[in-house]
Amino acid sequence: MKIAILNGSPRKENTTAMAEAFREGAESAGHEVTVYHVGQMKISGCLGCEYCHTKGEGSCVQKDDLEKILPAYKEADMIVFASPIYYFSMTTQMEAAIQRVYCIGKPLKAKKAALLLSSGSDGVYGAATIQFKAYMSYAGIEAAGVITAHGEENKSEAKLKEVKEFAKSL
Ligand SMILES: Cc1cc2nc3c(=O)[nH]c(=O)nc-3n(C[C@H](O)[C@H](O)[C@H](O)COP(=O)(O)O)c2cc1C
Repeated sequence: MKIAILNGSPRKENTTAMAEAFREGAESAGHEVTVYHVGQMKISGCLGCEYCHTKGEGSCVQKDDLEKILPAYKEADMIVFASPIYYFSMTTQMEAAIQRVYCIGKPLKAKKAALLLSSGSDGVYGAATIQFKAYMSYAGIEAAGVITAHGEENKSEAKLKEVKEFAKSL
C-alpha cells in the first residue's frame, strides 16, 4: 500500500516519534510510506469561496503548501493522521490540512486510515477521536485504529513498539 502520514505537530518530538515508528513498521511490512510534516507547513484555512467547485475545477484559489500534501489525498491507499492535542483538538495546522481537502471532495483512493495522538494528560482524546471516526465514516474510509500517548508514554519504548506493531499488522 501507499501510505501517507500527515504529521500535524510543529515540533519534531512526541508525535513525530510516533509517526516515525509507524513508518518503520509499515516499511518493514513492504508498504511505501511518505511523511508530510503539515505542522511545519503554511496551510491556511478554507475560505469557503467555492472557487474550487466552479471556475477552479478542483484547484484551490489559495496558493500555499496545500499543493505539497495533495498527493496524500489523491494517491494514498491509507492516510495516517498524527497530531498532538492542543486544547482538546488536533493542531490548527492539521485541521487546516484536513479541511482544505474540500477542493477535491474526499480523499480519492484511501480505503483505510489511522489516528495517532500525543498529549500531556490522559482522557483528552474525545473530540479528536469523534471527529476522526465521523470524517472517515462520511468519506467511506475504514478507521483502522487509534493510538494515543500521554505524558511519560510519549517516546517510550513500549508505546513506539505498539505503534510499530500496529503498522506492521496492516
Ligand atoms: C498550545 C498547546 C496546547 C496544548 N493543549 C493540551 C491539552 O488540551 N491537553 C493535553 O493533555 N495536552 C496539551 N498540550 C500538550 C501537548 O499535547 C503534548 O506536549 C504533546 O505531547 C506535544 O506533542 P509534540 O511533541 O509532538 O508537539 C498542549 C500543548 C500546547 C503547546
